[in-house]
Amino acid sequence: MKKMIIRGGRPLYGEIKISGFKNAALPLLYASVLAADVSVIGNVPRILDVFRTLEILESMGAIARFVDGNTVLCDTRFVRPCSSPDGLVRKLRASAYLLGAELARFGKTRAAIPGGCSIGRRPLDLHLAAFRTLGAEVRESEDAIGATAPSGLHGGEIVFGKVSVGATVNAILAAVGARGETILRGVAREPHITDLCDYLTACGAAISGVGSDCLRIRGGLPLHGATYALMPDMIEAGTFLCACGAAGGEICLRGAKAEHLSLLCTTLREMGMEIRCAPQQICASRPGPLAPFSLVAEPYPGFPTDMHPQFAALATGIPGCSRIRETVFPDRFRYVGELRRLGATIEARDGEVMINGGSSLHPGCVFATDLRAGAAEVIAALSIPGETVIRDAEILERGYDALPGKLRALGVPVIAEF
Ligand code: EPZ
Repeated sequence: MKKMIIRGGRPLYGEIKISGFKNAALPLLYASVLAADVSVIGNVPRILDVFRTLEILESMGAIARFVDGNTVLCDTRFVRPCSSPDGLVRKLRASAYLLGAELARFGKTRAAIPGGCSIGRRPLDLHLAAFRTLGAEVRESEDAIGATAPSGLHGGEIVFGKVSVGATVNAILAAVGARGETILRGVAREPHITDLCDYLTACGAAISGVGSDCLRIRGGLPLHGATYALMPDMIEAGTFLCACGAAGGEICLRGAKAEHLSLLCTTLREMGMEIRCAPQQICASRPGPLAPFSLVAEPYPGFPTDMHPQFAALATGIPGCSRIRETVFPDRFRYVGELRRLGATIEARDGEVMINGGSSLHPGCVFATDLRAGAAEVIAALSIPGETVIRDAEILERGYDALPGKLRALGVPVIAEF
């Protein structure tokens, strides 16, 4: 297990480049299977979940690799269906997208149950219901899922009773491969869903309603490869904005798209941060003490659940009581115990976390229990004078590209074993 040591207690100064978005990269890489052609995807982050996805695709017969810094070439012409490696598939949640991609292209699929961050129950019932609506026969076992559509998928109407990013991705992939028209109601509206639709449109798919909660897809069209550049990582940008709020100083995030972070930036401004947005950049500073806040984490365009732990860490340094109600993953509170190890007065109950901030935290040793918990611990460590050790820090490599180097570029002394 790798560790990261952060010597905190000093303000951040400098500029970093925000990488491409993990949660946009992963759907697009699996979606490239549909085109059975060569795609070139730009602005791909060099993170563990991308490397694992490339390895999965290559083990299935694709050529899928970085051809320069952040550009990936995906040649999926010779992909073999139902051949994904169980061990790798179990390591990440996004490998669930193999199901929709294979069903759309081959009319059959089989993959191990996907893994992912331990942030509570992560069922696949909405994914599988969407496949069944489009004519697939789905078989579930304890450790794998299979589905077939002997006469191919057909169009239909999919109505989501609950917003699910992953189920929306899989339903879109299946619908693009289904003969006829599919209407999808109650879909997730995260910006990375728009990225996926824009890539598939570039491949020849016919998708309307992009960005709304209702998509209309005319499926079964001939598809081809495309060249596409990913959106910037809105959660990475949000994480660094919280880091600046916790440690102080003045930072600029090159490549960040403020339109993806409007609610988050408004919240930080209301708390007392100075946030200046330009078309391809966000700059931030903390001119004085911040005010406590109350938030609800919910699907986009609401406050992103993937920023909940980071804001809780920020709140530990703000005098007063701050609250975050978590409506997407009601169990994503494992980070709370870790912040307590650093002296935070924080409590989670009934899907809500309360933080009594202001009392100074002390250095210590914490564990990155999941990706965004690790990010929260980094933010807390930045506000603490002295050395804080984050163990299992390799989890951060799953979703943050070159995090130690970016922290050093902002003046933070970091020792990292990755
Ligand atoms: C994606 O997870 C992201 N992961 C998560 O980011 C993110 O937190 C989440 O979307 C919400 O934005 C990737 O993109 C790889 P969901 P996903 O399906 O698709 C329930 C990170 O840190 N649900 O939108 O798994 C589910 O249990 C990660 O980058 C069902 O009940 O999330 C949850 O309560 C963490 N049945 C809610 O819906 C289903 O079939 C939302 O989950 C599917 C989901």
